[in-house]
Amino acid sequence: MPTYRIAPSILSADFARLGEEVTGVIAAGADMIHFDVMDNHYVPNLSIGPLVCAAIRPLTKAPIDVHLMVKPVDRIVPDFARAGADIISFHPEASEHVDRTIGLIQEHGCKAGLAFNPGTPLDHLDHVLHRLDLVLIMSVNPGFGGQKFIPHVLAKLAEVRRRIDLCGREIMLEVDGGVNADNIAGIARAGADTFVAGSAIFGATDYMAAIAAMRAAIQTA
Ligand code: DX5
Ligand code: ZN
Repeated sequence: MPTYRIAPSILSADFARLGEEVTGVIAAGADMIHFDVMDNHYVPNLSIGPLVCAAIRPLTKAPIDVHLMVKPVDRIVPDFARAGADIISFHPEASEHVDRTIGLIQEHGCKAGLAFNPGTPLDHLDHVLHRLDLVLIMSVNPGFGGQKFIPHVLAKLAEVRRRIDLCGREIMLEVDGGVNADNIAGIARAGADTFVAGSAIFGATDYMAAIAAMRAAIQTA
């Protein structure tokens, strides 16, 4: 039985009460905090940076899972490591030298993830999978919370699961975008073990019930 992790994306949190929102979802049973970084260049939106990561770091021992939608990526990696990130994921299109960026993240003491947009081919995994700690499969085009899950991503998830199992290394398989209690079982069946959910959790009135419903649905997978 794999370890399943629920990672609320604080992009959908109430930013005026961000600290309470972080402690609230962790108390409600979340496993880690998904931290979306958007630069209005690689993606058409602007969100939060290392200062906000450092501000929430003392509030929880749970891992902070930083998703960089930022180009270029290398310059900002040390800042997030210093701000207390545990995992840092980036998109291959945002790095001139993917292998070097993976090394940079790991040299700074963080786990390294590679993120794939719905249209990004898995070829980028060919020569680096054995170095990764996480593969992030986007099930929406990046830039905004609250979008609809793109179903053809399920086949892509299954293919990554196959490659990870062949590789033999412990690598998390994270899905990000449009995940909710209604579709999470199918996503788990396709092989994901780490589930980002923004609007499905922060849009609920009862975070504990929302997370419990997701876990119950995963069990049926
Ligand atoms: C999109 C972000 C996602 C997103 C998740 O660019 O990477 O983390 O905000 O939000 P929902 O679950 O609402 O799709
Ligand atoms: Zn994300």
